[in-house]
Amino acid sequence: MEVLRAWFGRAGVGAWRARRQVVWGTCILVMVGVIYLQYAPSGLLDHPSAPRHRALNTLYSPHEHEMGQQPSEHTQVQRVKFVTGGEGSQNGPESNGDTHVHDDVDNNNMNSINEEAVPSDPANQQHHLAVEGLQRRVAEHRVQEEQVAAAGGNAGEAGAVMLPQQDLAPAGVWGGGQYRYNPYGEPVYGRTDRPNYIPPHRVVHFDLKGAPPKMSAFLQLIPWLARQGATAVMLEYEDMFPWRGRLAQVATKNHYSRKQISGLVAACRSHGLEVIPLVQTFGHLEFALKHERFAHLREVPEIPQALCPSLNESLWLVRALVDQTMALHPGARFLHIGCDEVFQLGECERCRLVMRETLFLQHVKAVARYVRQKYAAVPLIWDDMLRHVSESAMQEAQLGQLVEPMVWVYAEDVYRFVQPSVWSKFGQVFSRVWAASAFKGAFGEQLTVPNVRRHLDNNLNWLDVMSAETAKFTGGFRGLVLTGWQRYDHFAVLCELLPAAMPSLSVNLLAVSHGYFNASVQGQLYQALNCMQTPKYQTWLNLDADPFLWDKFSWCFFPGAPVFKMTARLDATRRDVDTYLERVTRSRAWITDYNRRHNYSSPMRVDEDLEELPARLHSVTLLLKTAREALAEWFDDWTVGEWLEQHIWPLLNRLQTLQREAESMKAVKYWPARPLPLLSELAAFGVSEPSTVDGQGQQEGDGSSGRT
Ligand SMILES: *[C@@H]1O[C@H](CO)[C@@H](O)[C@H](O)[C@H]1NC(C)=O
Ligand SMILES: *[C@@H]1O[C@H](CO)[C@@H](O)[C@H](O)[C@H]1NC(C)=O
Ligand SMILES: *[C@@H]1O[C@H](CO)[C@@H](O)[C@H](O)[C@H]1NC(C)=O
Repeated sequence: MEVLRAWFGRAGVGAWRARRQVVWGTCILVMVGVIYLQYAPSGLLDHPSAPRHRALNTLYSPHEHEMGQQPSEHTQVQRVKFVTGGEGSQNGPESNGDTHVHDDVDNNNMNSINEEAVPSDPANQQHHLAVEGLQRRVAEHRVQEEQVAAAGGNAGEAGAVMLPQQDLAPAGVWGGGQYRYNPYGEPVYGRTDRPNYIPPHRVVHFDLKGAPPKMSAFLQLIPWLARQGATAVMLEYEDMFPWRGRLAQVATKNHYSRKQISGLVAACRSHGLEVIPLVQTFGHLEFALKHERFAHLREVPEIPQALCPSLNESLWLVRALVDQTMALHPGARFLHIGCDEVFQLGECERCRLVMRETLFLQHVKAVARYVRQKYAAVPLIWDDMLRHVSESAMQEAQLGQLVEPMVWVYAEDVYRFVQPSVWSKFGQVFSRVWAASAFKGAFGEQLTVPNVRRHLDNNLNWLDVMSAETAKFTGGFRGLVLTGWQRYDHFAVLCELLPAAMPSLSVNLLAVSHGYFNASVQGQLYQALNCMQTPKYQTWLNLDADPFLWDKFSWCFFPGAPVFKMTARLDATRRDVDTYLERVTRSRAWITDYNRRHNYSSPMRVDEDLEELPARLHSVTLLLKTAREALAEWFDDWTVGEWLEQHIWPLLNRLQTLQREAESMKAVKYWPARPLPLLSELAAFGVSEPSTVDGQGQQEGDGSSGRT
């Protein structure tokens, strides 16, 4: 308090009256702060913050971008995921190219390619191919497409392969194009007459490409998962795997060790959890293709997302990824080989000669055969690229004998993305199928905590869809994977962290293990989250009023609870800082950008606006420390630092900058006559200081006047 008083004492104007106000104001703020900290996430924080862009987030979760779904009203999101159909889709009409390019892919000896085959000289790469090249190709494709269309060619047929289609459900079946949540046409949460389908496998997905948990935290989680009804885990290592040999640089510096992974796999198995490793083999290979060493394997030189399937060396890379993964998962029954969101397909000079559909199927076949022959494991692939492939093409490629598809939809409305007709098609081709829902990382790229209400609806809808569609497959569904994305892709910042999603994971895991979610699982849920025996935990939860469950579970002691609680505090703090900054820099008129740029304001008004700043600086600083401690139990300093920089540092930085600039305005003692100097950047728009005006007034002002 002394410090504050001394600080405010320096204010020349406003004297004691302002000071008394400040002291009282600060006292009240501090008290509110203390009360708030004590009872952290209570009713104070009830505003549902996170998913503001509901529709947007629903449609664009990590790889929620089926090529056929591209609602144009959400244009801003399209840059989140590169080329959601738009551009790639222009490539539909290919020449009726034959497939000779691929014939060698299956039978050659790619393993023998030696070190020299991996050029390291950047001069050899096509890095110089600039964006113009890309644009040119797109334009060419467009012209081609128009020509084919004009000639009445097979544009339609080729288009049916991967082109976005407005594949709306037939009117009248699912609400006349107004997609509803489920076959009943309404949200599922709260329904009592559901079929209670329980998937044979309940798989929890760990996305380790962001915020990989410390192995100690991970190991703690394994027995807990088994108790909540999980039967398997799916591990997506990406750069956290200890890649070695020629792949060594693909691994992140803080990757898991081989010993740690073996220990994790053993721990899972000892608790009866099957382990399904996942390694990308086509799209989403950013973690490898971003490196100069592998850049020549990109389908499009500027974009490190998809592998070019026409190069022998690409298959070498894939085989190396598969071999190293399988070496640490001996005896794995399943290997997920990714293959989602291959946005760049059929773009390079070789690939352009082949139909996109063929390119895709041939590469998947080659990889799947390799996995089956060498490891006798069943390859799984994400289904999104297949949604628009014809049944005959899949039959011809004998895809049903090679892979099992994993159909993913993370939005509530499963049928909106995968209609009954698609299920029928898949049922003709595949005898077994998997489903994938989400418990976090699907409703916003920068969220800090998942909306449990929405994820529960997604999962319950999946159960209903599975029970309705299982008969279309002779072997039915293998299981449901609850995905938990930590980044939307390799280059994205972090989304919800695992510890913050423990309540969501419990709720959803219990729901899919029981086939329903109602007060009958209350005891199990509160026990899973280690809640106290207090009246609060003798009543059921209310997801409508408390969608993040901050209110319900902030008093429990599950692993990760401190992180979960902290997200509630962050939400309130961010809201508070935003409101404050908005008020003083945009609503009020004395520390706006203009004032600060020109170092020109009323010291008394500046003081008034700064009154509330110290308390806010204090609460953000405190939050940063709390967050650091909470996160350190789960994550190494790399992750802790990344998350703090992403979420809390900007708050502190904005406040500190404002404080610095306001102080600087207050230091001015003499002010120039108006007009103030014009912004030099405006000269580009023809607004510059008139030369006829005598500049004397401005020149002769005190030296301490604004910048010129
Ligand atoms: C791939 O390897 C085969 C035989 O090893 C060779 O005939 C073919 O030209 C190679 N293709 C490419 C694109 O390098
Ligand atoms: C919850 O749902 C199950 C299955 O539908 C039912 O047997 C049970 O009675 C329900 N419990 C409550 C409290 O509604
Ligand atoms: C504003 O004026 C003060 C006092 O003359 C000076 O110390 C400070 O550097 C100025 N700030 C800017 C941004 O011009």
